[in-house]
Amino acid sequence: MKETIDFLPLKGTDYIEFYVGNSKQAAFFYQTAFGFQPLAFAGLETGLSDRSSYVLQQGKIRLVLTSSLNGENEISRHAMKHGDGVKVIALWVDDATKAWEETTSRGADSYMAPTTTADDNGEVITSGIRIYGETVHVFVERKNYNGVFLPGYIPWETSYKTEPTGLKYVDHMVGNVGWGEMNKWVDFYAEVMGFNQLISFDDKDISTEFTALMSKVMSNGNERIKFPINEPAEGAKKSQVEEYLDFYGTSGVQHIALETDDILQTVTTLKDRGIDFLEIPDDYYEVVKERVGEIDETVDSLKKLGILVDRDEEGYLLQIFTKPLVDRPTLFFEIIQRKGAKSFGKGNFKALFEAIELEQGKRGTL
Ligand code: FE2
Repeated sequence: MKETIDFLPLKGTDYIEFYVGNSKQAAFFYQTAFGFQPLAFAGLETGLSDRSSYVLQQGKIRLVLTSSLNGENEISRHAMKHGDGVKVIALWVDDATKAWEETTSRGADSYMAPTTTADDNGEVITSGIRIYGETVHVFVERKNYNGVFLPGYIPWETSYKTEPTGLKYVDHMVGNVGWGEMNKWVDFYAEVMGFNQLISFDDKDISTEFTALMSKVMSNGNERIKFPINEPAEGAKKSQVEEYLDFYGTSGVQHIALETDDILQTVTTLKDRGIDFLEIPDDYYEVVKERVGEIDETVDSLKKLGILVDRDEEGYLLQIFTKPLVDRPTLFFEIIQRKGAKSFGKGNFKALFEAIELEQGKRGTL
């Protein structure tokens, strides 16, 4: 095997920043429903005049919810054009200057040149590059920082606390890109960021009677970061990816998959707290044992919650998908528990897409 040097070593996902219409209320939603814990805040009280950001954490997952305090800036324009959505996928690195130099020298479009910010707790270097649509990667070098999140943020003190729901870390984040653009972004992740292609699905794998899409999964060297890239494919009716693009207005993040060690408990709690999941027809469960063989869970317990199961050579996985988390049919979460399997639930695509089409039918967008 050829020895290659990883020119962009990534330690993990640092944070995911959403631009939203109302960060205070969005924070309350992710806190109340998903059990994210209050971590940090920046806004008028910290000297900012144009924005407020709430930072929440659960396990290794950090969400930043940012909204504009006026109608004039980039954040309000973004929120109006796209609705609430992911702006920044931040990646934790040892050297944000080198990450920016390596990627921009390979053709990445700069979003932010390396910038040092500091406060009493030390300093952080951040830099950034543009990816699909208006989404960006920010590289975060925090080895000389001991503060709660980033310089400029203060601890978010609140007496309102909710129990966590067992979410541990980001398993993967999926991008929806435009017609014929999948390979352009696959090449971007390969050439500009040094990622490898793990898997490819074509429209024969991922199609139903009505709609289709194609997907390739890109991963960094240590496989901590996995980015499937979807594009719509021709079908008899409108692809779910096309519906996303129509409503988001451009390419963007479609779903964030969050890992749990106990999906039965996590999903039970999320349902109790009002989160809606895609509904899977009962007949899915009639053949599930034949398809995946022995599993630790009872089929009844999965059926009761609508959890899907799939197997590959290395083990199996359990997964479930929320309905869109925002007004537009764009962003959703996947909850996933891996029991050895490293794949993405190919055996579930048909059942899943039929469930999505049921929802598209209700929205009149199929
Ligand atoms: Fe996924």
